[in-house]
Amino acid sequence: MSQKIKKILNLKKKRKIVSLTAYSKSYAKLLDKHCDIILAGDSMANVLYGMPNTQNISITNIIQHSISVQKGIRKSLFVVDMPKGTYKTTFQAKKNAKLIIKKTKCDAVKIESNKKNFKIIQEIVNSKIPVMGHIGYTPQFKKEFKVEGKTKKEMQKLITEALLIEKAGAFSIVLECITPKTAKIITNLLKIPTIGIGSSSHCDGQILVTDDILGLSGFYPKFVKKYANLNRVIENAVKKYSKDVKNKKFPKTKNFLYGK
Ligand code: KIV
Repeated sequence: MSQKIKKILNLKKKRKIVSLTAYSKSYAKLLDKHCDIILAGDSMANVLYGMPNTQNISITNIIQHSISVQKGIRKSLFVVDMPKGTYKTTFQAKKNAKLIIKKTKCDAVKIESNKKNFKIIQEIVNSKIPVMGHIGYTPQFKKEFKVEGKTKKEMQKLITEALLIEKAGAFSIVLECITPKTAKIITNLLKIPTIGIGSSSHCDGQILVTDDILGLSGFYPKFVKKYANLNRVIENAVKKYSKDVKNKKFPKTKNFLYGK
């Protein structure tokens, strides 16, 4: 087990784990000092590519962005999402996980649970690739957004799923949009850390999409806290630039590279 993975495991019950997404070197560089985990998430499908969901982002796109992200990381654990359709069979999953590790030099891959792929997770872990699981609202497999774990039956299913993912060897697990009560039970039952998104403060850590907290994505559900309004900052800057160009205030002679 790598030192980086050990560090994440050791944080359980000591302090909350901080995690955010990045899709490029410039973002990763800014996040690295303040995060424990940086995820090159398939949410790049919506955020960067304007796709309606995460179901059609290609492994090539994920790898290209992850290569960039890796260049900005010095200390955080770097996790890359395996996109939909790349881990349907054990053979395919191992081949693609190895490809992602080789090309992006990431520390681990993340796999969404379809409630059946525990063996696939186990086989990837057996091939010495650390895996982060992901349960609850799993955008690769769900058509509609729904909070998970409201009924007793749903709660029990999620608990069993989380336990099976831990048994398969995952080093941590994302709990997405799970009720606080269910998130608390799972977090207390598992030895591995739970990373919540829309799943309350009971989880061992938190993850959000960086563009959402920066006010860039236009997507602000209740579980997101907007820490900046970069949309406004960028728009103001662009407006000023446009005005300057039209009024011949930019470029000035000091911006000329040579002569007058
Ligand atoms: O793709 C992503 O960004 C994610 C996290 C938000 C958990 O899967």
